[in-house]
Amino acid sequence: MRNKLLFWAWVLGLVATWASPASAQTAPARELRLITDRTDQGVLRPMLDAFEARSGAKVTAVFMDQGLVARLESRPTEADVVITKDAELLEIAAQKGLLATFNSKTISEGIPASFRDPGNRYFVDAYRARVIYYAKARVKPSELSSYEDLAAPKWKGRICIRPGGHDYNLALFGQFMASYGEAKAKAIIQGIAANLARTPKGNDREQAKGIFEGKCDVALMNTYYHAMMAYTPEQKPWADATAVLYPNQAGKGTFIMRSAIGMTKAQGNQDLALQFMEWLASQEGQEAMVRATRQFSPRPDVEIHPLLSTLGAEQGVPGGRFKMDFVPLAAMAGQREAVLKYVAEIGFDKER
Ligand SMILES: [Fe+2]
Repeated sequence: MRNKLLFWAWVLGLVATWASPASAQTAPARELRLITDRTDQGVLRPMLDAFEARSGAKVTAVFMDQGLVARLESRPTEADVVITKDAELLEIAAQKGLLATFNSKTISEGIPASFRDPGNRYFVDAYRARVIYYAKARVKPSELSSYEDLAAPKWKGRICIRPGGHDYNLALFGQFMASYGEAKAKAIIQGIAANLARTPKGNDREQAKGIFEGKCDVALMNTYYHAMMAYTPEQKPWADATAVLYPNQAGKGTFIMRSAIGMTKAQGNQDLALQFMEWLASQEGQEAMVRATRQFSPRPDVEIHPLLSTLGAEQGVPGGRFKMDFVPLAAMAGQREAVLKYVAEIGFDKER
């Protein structure tokens, strides 16, 4: 009798287990942890949503503006994937041994070799150019030509730029060093500093605002801001007041800034991290990236965003396809500290 009761209790238990809702039995959604120096969650969020929908995983992100490499050093396994606006930071992180090596045919076939780390620790997920914005009402494109021309006396008191110590300018000035050599690079940086209209302050868009307000006639900024300002009602006048010139088109070309993605050395989630990276390298992922950030894709099969393809038209750049002065990231990363030191030494950011 007792055995019979135990038997039926066991059967009931089994039935209860089978009958319970599936959700109670499936494992909780996997979590992909991301760290990024992209400050605006709005830019990345649609892409993260798209990946969540296709993978069923949940993506959680830590956002930070500066100090990404130091954060990776102090908390190396806090995230599975690291996304940055400044690919040289991932080159530095890779050199410090903070990134894992991945092996992916999808990535190596989708992203051209020049946009991949030769050591397979990160790849460039998009890029933009750092160009000259000029006042349409006061400057003719024919008056402009190159970065070095901005050091000429004719631009005295007419240039606006964000602080020289900001990552974007460190990346630009580091490429001056790598491409032109130290002496010429320093002369250009010092020449620009001598020609500034005001103390370097604010972000890139505020330099376009400076042009709109008549405080300066030219500024150094990234290409995508023109498209972003044009779609932000209160900034549209800043976009309307300015046009973009790709410098050095008759010479070595315009410098680009790359954004990138890499995998940390955190364990246990590397398959999911790679799944995300492969999606970002795919045509679909790249189209989402280009739409979200208004950058150029390293994939030749991804079209240039229509708002970017018109930039440079005044100088005859066809469909946004500008000549690029390509500096490998490894060559730039080595310049970063030297540039930071030089910018401080000449008082680039001092009050004016
Ligand atoms: Fe930016």
